[in-house]
Amino acid sequence: MTQPTQPFSERYGRWGVVAGAGEGLGAAFALDLARRGMNVLLIARREHQIKHVASQIQSSFGVTARCLAQDLANVETVAEIERELADKDVGVLVYNAAHIPLGSFLDTEMADIEQAVAVNVRGPIALIRAIAPGMRERRRGGIVLMSSLAGLQGAPGLITYSSSKAFNIVLGEGLWRELRDCDIDVLTCIAGAVRTPGYARYSSRDTPGIQEPETVARQALDALPKGPRFVPGFTNRLTAQFLSRLLPRRAAIALLAKASHPDE
Ligand SMILES: NC(=O)c1ccc[n+]([C@@H]2O[C@H](COP(=O)([O-])OP(=O)(O)OC[C@H]3O[C@@H](n4cnc5c(N)ncnc54)[C@H](OP(=O)(O)O)[C@@H]3O)[C@@H](O)[C@H]2O)c1
Repeated sequence: MTQPTQPFSERYGRWGVVAGAGEGLGAAFALDLARRGMNVLLIARREHQIKHVASQIQSSFGVTARCLAQDLANVETVAEIERELADKDVGVLVYNAAHIPLGSFLDTEMADIEQAVAVNVRGPIALIRAIAPGMRERRRGGIVLMSSLAGLQGAPGLITYSSSKAFNIVLGEGLWRELRDCDIDVLTCIAGAVRTPGYARYSSRDTPGIQEPETVARQALDALPKGPRFVPGFTNRLTAQFLSRLLPRRAAIALLAKASHPDE
């Protein structure tokens, strides 16, 4: 692995927190924070997965990795996280976890939609409110929110997910400006397809421009000082321009409707 050129942990702090860290992009973020010299708190529901990532971190980078097997959809989880972080100087929060209800909006169970709102919308708000005040006191910190090209317009078949990802883009932009005065960097990473277990559950085909999770995590953390938004990958940057600036809105929605059913 290449060594980072920036003293990342000096700029941001000693601990990184990754919400949704057991596999795919979340694991890649956790490993990349460790590569940059940070201790990492890994949060996900499946304990064996975060434990596996923690042992990789400790053996490869010699930093500390702690595991919290909790459901980010539960309101009580934030209190658990606060307890765990009470004596830690948190430098970077990456909110990666997401829930994706698939299918037509009216035929989706309300519980499925509520899970997406809890994990994708309430989760980042609650963790930022728990963690950013400490960053403000120390006058250093960074926050990465994971969003998606699907959040740039309505996406039939993925409506709750795409709306929640649009929310994260706007949340990140507002925070980027508000927290800049406290020396906290905020970046929303607007990813295209990334080869993760989450992606494989949704599509059996590679989308053009698909990226590896390690590449996205590294590029997003490199871009953290340059918020408010970052689209990783040349093809995805072209797609983002096309969707949000060049195509009429109706055509962009029609394109997403097609892309939301990749296996049809
Ligand atoms: N993959 C893509 O193509 C792609 C494209 C654009 C944007 N993104 C964004 O990138 C992020 C990662 O997506 P991914 O599908 O690729 O996932 P992933 O990184 O493969 O895994 C998601 C992680 O979140 C955890 N998680 C999910 N729900 C959770 C909950 N309720 N509580 C605690 N942890 C939870 C999962 O572990 P447990 O299940 O064990 O809890 C898992 O470790 C998402 O925000 C997504 O919107 C992904």
